[in-house]
Amino acid sequence: MVEFGRSRELQIRGHELIPGGCHTYAKGDDQFPLMSPGFIARGEGCHVWDVDGNEYIEYGMGCRAVTLGHGFPAVVEAVKAELPHGTNFSRPAKIEVECAEALLGLIDGADMVKFSKDGSSATSAAVKLARAHTGHDLVALCSDHPFFAVHDWFIGTTAFDAGIPQAIKDLTRTFRYNDLDSVRALFEHHPGEIACLIMEPAKYEDPQDGFLHGVQSLCRQHGALFVLDEMITGFRWHLGGAQKEYGIVPDLSTFGKALANGFSVSALVGKREFMELGGIEHDKERVFLLSTTHGAETHSLAAAIATIKVYRENNVVERLHQQGTRLKTGADEVIARHGLSDYVQVIGRPCCLVYGTRDKAEQPSQEFRTLFMQELIRRGVLGPSFVVSYSHSDADIDHTIAAIDGALDVYARALDEGVGRFLIGPATKGVYRRFN
Ligand SMILES: Cc1ncc(COP(=O)(O)O)c(C=O)c1O
Repeated sequence: MVEFGRSRELQIRGHELIPGGCHTYAKGDDQFPLMSPGFIARGEGCHVWDVDGNEYIEYGMGCRAVTLGHGFPAVVEAVKAELPHGTNFSRPAKIEVECAEALLGLIDGADMVKFSKDGSSATSAAVKLARAHTGHDLVALCSDHPFFAVHDWFIGTTAFDAGIPQAIKDLTRTFRYNDLDSVRALFEHHPGEIACLIMEPAKYEDPQDGFLHGVQSLCRQHGALFVLDEMITGFRWHLGGAQKEYGIVPDLSTFGKALANGFSVSALVGKREFMELGGIEHDKERVFLLSTTHGAETHSLAAAIATIKVYRENNVVERLHQQGTRLKTGADEVIARHGLSDYVQVIGRPCCLVYGTRDKAEQPSQEFRTLFMQELIRRGVLGPSFVVSYSHSDADIDHTIAAIDGALDVYARALDEGVGRFLIGPATKGVYRRFN
């Protein structure tokens, strides 16, 4: 039996000191089985070792931020080279311009960029800029996409909305993905009130029937800005973002996560006519746009430049698709062999796979999700998703397929005999819930 003794000690201490026991809800104890590594000691490539010395192949590393691999040498070397020269000065560092050139060189139609540390700051800045430019107060977001920001304009749309005034909630409206009528209806109900529409370019399905272009055209018609949140799709769908893949140029877009292989860099990019409102070279009303003490920390920007270089020189996006396809093909095969295709599904674009778990009545089930994860962990795979990195080798993928095979043996028995006989500890819970 795998030991988690040191993890348990740290979990108890963690919950005494930190609300939630850690700093990201998605990494919390209510998101993983009881029988899972509580704390990670180190990582290398796509492998991690927990504080008890257990080794795992990891998926979705760092909430999908680590696309190249943990401790990726080219990125680590770039950071090490920058660090001795200082990280923050009383005037900008030259690397701010270098990193702006590197990123804008990839994103067609984006003229300017503002860097920050986290994705939420970037998406919230996009909303603010849109409000300032249009003079409209409402923001419309896609309700099929699970997360845009930690800030009130988004969290106010979830059940986890304590502390958010109704007046703020009233300013956010929602529409459905691939449902142009729902977008049209919004504009009809709120003529001249909507500042921007924000969505991910895609989640589990591609845009249908020119959906993105349709939304863009409605935005233009109604004087709203069209914002694409590329926090997840950026550097995965295409080196130029999913916007390049789908042939669309948004007014503003946001990047983060994969941008610096896990170092803290996010970016708001967009057309000059909007972005320059945050600058000091125009005579319009000024917009306070992303100005933070740590926003341009030099070694993180060095990490971003190095990451972009690796992406450019190594066909990283192609590799993510290849390895994801290998995993999906193998997983689909073993799922079918176990006769479980109605109960376990691997879905999404190959570079960004997730899985769905269903109970005997074929309803989505957190208990079965927890059991599946528990059995993967038992077999050396830490997989809240199946999101691959550039470091996942063929051997890692094949080991994972074997682990899925073994986990499905247990899954099939649990369908027959009851999940409670096999699941150790409580089921995971959705993050957006009002009470624990
Ligand atoms: C699509 C999307 N947008 C925005 C964010 C917010 O990014 P961060 O957690 O860096 O604030 C996330 C984070 O998961 C995300 O997935």
